[in-house]
Amino acid sequence: MSLDPFYLATAIEAALEAGRIHRRYFRKALDVRKKGPIDLVTAADLEVERMFRARIADRFPDHVVLGEEGGVTTAPPGRCRWVVDPLDGTTNFAHGLGLFCISIALQIDDRLALGVVYDPIGQELFTAERGSGARVNGRPLAVSTRTELIDALLCTGFPYTVREGKSAQVKVFEAFLSSAQAVRRLGSAALDLCYVAAGRFDGFWEQELNPWDVAAGALIIEEAGGTVTGYDGGPLDVFARHILATNGPLHAPMLEVIKKTSG
Ligand code: IPD
Ligand code: CA
Ligand code: CA
Repeated sequence: MSLDPFYLATAIEAALEAGRIHRRYFRKALDVRKKGPIDLVTAADLEVERMFRARIADRFPDHVVLGEEGGVTTAPPGRCRWVVDPLDGTTNFAHGLGLFCISIALQIDDRLALGVVYDPIGQELFTAERGSGARVNGRPLAVSTRTELIDALLCTGFPYTVREGKSAQVKVFEAFLSSAQAVRRLGSAALDLCYVAAGRFDGFWEQELNPWDVAAGALIIEEAGGTVTGYDGGPLDVFARHILATNGPLHAPMLEVIKKTSG
């Protein structure tokens, strides 16, 4: 069944509006607050999420929203649930580093139906609808075709709780440093995933992520021909808090490294 085109149009419109808000605050004196010792929230995160919730309530009053700053909302069966991270890459944003985005996904009956990620500094709009492919600024996206880990450029991230579970995560990081061509840590999981979809990275892994970090990017990768699972190799559950996303050929070798070194 094809998706109501109004859903994607609304997500794109909201993403572009979010970008205008991000740019208005970026590199200006900012009210930065701490949610935890190293977990930040700014006025931009809050304003974007307020804008997004108001827009969905206005357009689709029976839809529910799960957003990072506004708390968790469960969707009764059959309901549409929007999953939004109003600013993914807040630490970068707060330091004036232009690597951040808004991430918007729509789930229908818990199944991802569309994903939109917008980077307002690089001005790249990543979009996907299930079954219709993935695009960046309207151009089709495809994952890379590399088959050897030694030729792969990988990316990862670390959760705000990293200080508590550091050694296991550092072991996995070390194992990929020794087996891949190189490893990066950019600071925006949603953009990291889009870069796998675009063939810039060949694989991405991270644990303790939240649904709003991964929902849109996961669909964008799948629609670009890549593979997305949990650390167990099973279908991605956006609530499972761990993710392995690759171009496909590198999935089994990366999973093996994770299984050997984590836990
Ligand atoms: C964070 C970023 C980061 C990842 C963290 C996330 P936030 O999201 O995606 O790359 O490593 O685990 O929490 O806080 O900037 O929205
Ligand atoms: Ca995030
Ligand atoms: Ca965020």
